[in-house]
Amino acid sequence: MESDWRGDKVAEGDWVLLDLYGTNHDARLWQEPDRFKPDRFENWPGDAFSFVAQGAGYVEKSHRCPGEAATIAVMKRAVRVLTKLDYTVPDQDLSVPLGQVPTKPVSGFVIQPF
Ligand code: HEM
Repeated sequence: MESDWRGDKVAEGDWVLLDLYGTNHDARLWQEPDRFKPDRFENWPGDAFSFVAQGAGYVEKSHRCPGEAATIAVMKRAVRVLTKLDYTVPDQDLSVPLGQVPTKPVSGFVIQPF
């Protein structure tokens, strides 16, 4: 059996990957998608299909990372701690290789406390 998604054929047994990075950086959805602009979320109504770092859909009734709520709680705490620290960011390779899953900055993110 074969399906058709906007001209792309998907045959039985094919793997289909949701492009998380591509969706989160799609200029049709996000202005200046490559800039760090946390204020872009101030008036974001929230939807399950435009910001998909942890998958698309609804964890309660369809499919999405069930660890998202825990992850957000840890990130909130980490941001509070980091914004109170005095540190510098030494030269490093912050590029993100897109040929591996999962990916992360090459150097991680190295900080040096004062
Ligand atoms: C930054 C942190 C995390 C990111 C970026 C992330 C991302 C993702 C993504 C993209 C998926 C695939 C969703 C899909 O197939 O549509 C996933 C699935 C999953 N995540 Fe996470 N995740 C994170 C943290 C966590 C944590 C902390 C837990 C558990 C405590 C967790 C548990 C799971 C499980 C069990 C699945 C598989 C769900 C399923 O296939 O039904 N994740 N995650």
